Amino acid sequence: DEDKLAYKARIKRLLKEKNAVLVAHYYTDPEIQALAEETNGCVSDSLEMARFGRDADEQTLIVAGVKFMGETAKILSPEKTVLMPTLEATCSLDLGCPIDRFSAFCDAHPDRTVVVYANTSAAVKARADWVVTSSIALEIVEHLDSQGKKILWGPDRHLGTYIQKQTGADMLMWQGACVVHDEFKARALAALKEQYPEAAILVHPESPDNVVAMADAVGSTSQLIKAAQTLPNDKLIVATDRGIFYKMQQAAPDKTFLEAPTGGNGATCRSCAHCPWMAMNGLKAIEEALTDNNGHEIFVDEQTRIKALIPLDRMLEFAA
Ligand code: 13P
Ligand code: SF4
Repeated sequence: DEDKLAYKARIKRLLKEKNAVLVAHYYTDPEIQALAEETNGCVSDSLEMARFGRDADEQTLIVAGVKFMGETAKILSPEKTVLMPTLEATCSLDLGCPIDRFSAFCDAHPDRTVVVYANTSAAVKARADWVVTSSIALEIVEHLDSQGKKILWGPDRHLGTYIQKQTGADMLMWQGACVVHDEFKARALAALKEQYPEAAILVHPESPDNVVAMADAVGSTSQLIKAAQTLPNDKLIVATDRGIFYKMQQAAPDKTFLEAPTGGNGATCRSCAHCPWMAMNGLKAIEEALTDNNGHEIFVDEQTRIKALIPLDRMLEFAA
């Protein structure tokens, strides 16, 4: 509508004026993803967001996603100004893995290589040997396992279980979960599959293991979009945040997409297939961030940043 058009026009002007670029995640609202596309920004998974931010020529990054994504951008580009539509947008995995408790867990197992998911605070990354995102986690753990390393994994237990099953690696796990993916239900998914036997099932590995077990493709958000394109099926059942449908539909315009069921038996769930923190990223908040940094800028303590940079760079180099 008219309001949105006006916001978009003002944001486009401000991006130019401030030498800023928009870096958005697939789970943000379609209008934000579209705006990032129209302004030569980036819409991607968390690994590519990190890379894009690091390599961008612009002086300011507007990271539309959740806090760990903004922090990662700042760790990689301390000389850039990193802004977020709201600093309140966190992640249940980050919240469920406070540094003091995690650090004590690591201290209790000094013989283990610490591998943490990118969905964590800068302080937790600074305590890690490796950072991984869902698109590269399997390969990195495979690599460490082949070197005979025992792993301490945190914080997502479902992603950890998936990787452990795939690689057979020795992994001691922190018991965190994503409030969105944790709600997908295997029994209801089986019923939906019975209704549409020709459909393929796409699952993000933050989902419970009995849901992952039913998948035709498991992967990060960008890997799932690829799978939607390349699988021969015309119908796809998707177990991840529904924000992804904007790009999936673009990538495979002739296919039909169905949301995987949450909550089972009509029961309600806490965050039915849409991340409440991703949803905080609106056009109004983006305009505010571009107008006044105050309350929108990401800062990472320099000592923490230098430590967190090591495992992050390790991941990016491995992925290159
Ligand atoms: P991706 O790296 O797959 O984009 O995942 C990030 C995330 O927060 C998923 O919930
Ligand atoms: Fe975190 Fe889950 Fe939201 Fe991703 S979808 S940001 S893992 S709470």
